[in-house]
Amino acid sequence: ANAPKFNGVSKSDQDIHLDTGRLSRQCFPHTFAFGASTSAYQVEGMALEEGRGSSIWDSFVRTSVTGKIKDKSTADVTVDQYHHYKEDIDLLKDLNFDSYRFSISWSRIFPDGTGKVNWKGVDYYNRLIDYLLEKASRTELLGITPYVNLHHFDLPEVLEKRYNGWLCKKKEIVKDFADYADFCFKLFGDRVKNWFTLNEPRIACIFGYYSGIIAPGRCSKPIGECEEGCSLTEPYEAAHNMILAHAAAVQIYRLKYQKKQQGKIGIVLDCKWYEPFRSPRNDHEAAKRAIDFEIGWFIHPISCGQYPKSMIHNVGDRLPSFTEKEREMVRGSIDYVGINHYSTSYAEDPIELLPRLYAGYEKDRRVIVHDDKVEEANGSNNNGRPWGMYKLLMHLKDNYGHYPIIVVENGTNDASDILFPYVLHDKARVDYYKGYVDAVKNAIDNGAKVIGYFAWSLLDNWEWSRGYTTRYGIVHVDLNDQKRYPKLSAYWFQQLLKEEKVKP
Ligand code: NOJ
Repeated sequence: ANAPKFNGVSKSDQDIHLDTGRLSRQCFPHTFAFGASTSAYQVEGMALEEGRGSSIWDSFVRTSVTGKIKDKSTADVTVDQYHHYKEDIDLLKDLNFDSYRFSISWSRIFPDGTGKVNWKGVDYYNRLIDYLLEKASRTELLGITPYVNLHHFDLPEVLEKRYNGWLCKKKEIVKDFADYADFCFKLFGDRVKNWFTLNEPRIACIFGYYSGIIAPGRCSKPIGECEEGCSLTEPYEAAHNMILAHAAAVQIYRLKYQKKQQGKIGIVLDCKWYEPFRSPRNDHEAAKRAIDFEIGWFIHPISCGQYPKSMIHNVGDRLPSFTEKEREMVRGSIDYVGINHYSTSYAEDPIELLPRLYAGYEKDRRVIVHDDKVEEANGSNNNGRPWGMYKLLMHLKDNYGHYPIIVVENGTNDASDILFPYVLHDKARVDYYKGYVDAVKNAIDNGAKVIGYFAWSLLDNWEWSRGYTTRYGIVHVDLNDQKRYPKLSAYWFQQLLKEEKVKP
């Protein structure tokens, strides 16, 4: 039943590309989660229907300075998972995945951010979750386990208007997010046992408040022209509120639900790997700093109760600090850490005065980022450096080793000008996944506590400021008729994960 049924590729190509080499499901522990990821705004559609309130993305795509979304598209419809969720879950099952990571749209549950509930939204997520779990009872195999993200960039717009969203001065957002989370735990926690609070807070802060290329788009000038326009403080202030909101939600989960519901909760952090550009010590320090300013910005307070030393030193009094009470709440506020990892770059220490291009965050972290090393220019590219995944996982093991890790996003994109059916023949993506899944296994063999791996993304979808101009899916979606077409990479996962699953 699991034989590959890919029909855009010759049989011999299939054999070559579907070969999983030394990798198989059996190389990973039974309890290891293998899944695929999506997020609400990118896949649901029905953006302003069935009672959903507007989010900062709905307004951003409409009101932002022309050109912020590459193809001027919106995600009003996107791949319409709202109506196609059963098909998508059937696909997950067919491809032998055991888990699905999706996000709940806050403004679909609370159109006004707080207060009045939109029960149609609640019903939608109930149907989605029930269908995931139903997959279990119907087939008598392990079902599709939901991994639920409470917030993936799509803040209710009213909260932005009410008190500047994540920038609020009186921490209103901390309580509002915790209340929203509380409601989700209460309504869905009987069935959802794996939670994440926020997705990629760093990306939201840097691109939302520093370069302004994503919602809420606080800086409208391009980097380089924005020394005065770009705030030198907003990214840090927003991040601080995000950390507090995350911790407040976890506190509620632990106090009111965790014991009874027997679930776990974490946060999703993005991190590239940075390798020193040249060998001198300065570049080693720069690479370390680059990582501190990415994942360290969040995992360090969560692990140790304060920001990384390099941030405290370089950002100075523009970096908010935690009160003793906040520190207590933040420290230890995860059961596991979710990481989104895509690529590796090289870090160079600027040594001399930084060029004007580097202001604010970039200037603070004092790193010049190179996508390639000169000697590599014709060889590997920054998309395909699986050793960076290995090194990142080992870095987490060595520095924050008490937390299990779930890789909740890993993937690569292709251009949107590749025509159907060639888009299905994604050999480069297969190679990418071969390398990266292998790197995860290597890290586990060398002691990293990785407990799950999710591909980004299950579906081609709406890629924020890049609109539909690029695609990350292992399943292609024809936006004209919403038909789903698994790519070669999807069948590669099907092969990898094909063993008979055992009952717990
Ligand atoms: C990270 C984000 O969480 C996701 O929304 C995005 O589509 C992927 N990276 C790819 O850029």
